[in-house]
Amino acid sequence: MNAIFQRRSIRKFQDTPVPEKDIQQILRAAMAAPSAGNAQEWEFVLCRDKEKMEAVMQMHEYAFALKTAPLAILVCGNSEREIYPGEDWWIQNCSAATQNMLLEAADLGIGSLWLGIHPIPKRIDLMRELFLLPAHIHPFSLVALGYAAKEKEPIDRYHPEWVHEEHY
Ligand SMILES: Cc1cc2nc3c(=O)[nH]c(=O)nc-3n(C[C@H](O)[C@H](O)[C@H](O)COP(=O)(O)O)c2cc1C
Repeated sequence: MNAIFQRRSIRKFQDTPVPEKDIQQILRAAMAAPSAGNAQEWEFVLCRDKEKMEAVMQMHEYAFALKTAPLAILVCGNSEREIYPGEDWWIQNCSAATQNMLLEAADLGIGSLWLGIHPIPKRIDLMRELFLLPAHIHPFSLVALGYAAKEKEPIDRYHPEWVHEEHY
């Protein structure tokens, strides 16, 4: 699948909004992800507000990409929809949803960046405050989206020595 190999982290974006139909498609891809027990605990908060993005940049050491990003989508887990309470599968499920967003964006020619939120307490706290998240909504990742200011080359990271036959 070309999108897998073409996807790269984009940290500088053009000043062009992401079309609404593409945002919809990226969210549709997120919600098509596999989830343990098909729980689909994910929820998404769209952010186009540059003041909020500035607040994230002030706190998050590796969020400078938000300076130019026209859109960021906060991926959250909703623990009220968990079907195995206490097992925290939402973390893996939100991870799969996040990766689907990056791949769909790449397929649409849209650049993206996965900004880590979970499990850093100060990042979680700020997301709760900025986006008014109730206690059962757990911020997981912030996905910056937009057209890349400069395209990046695909990278092949295949390491045959990390693959083991039958035993380590
Ligand atoms: C869980 C996770 C958290 C990440 N957090 C950040 C981040 O906070 N800021 C950032 O600039 N990149 C972040 N990245 C992107 C990685 O730095 C990037 O994927 C890695 O350097 C490989 O580069 P590539 O995505 O271009 O292949 C994160 C990636 C993952 C999977």
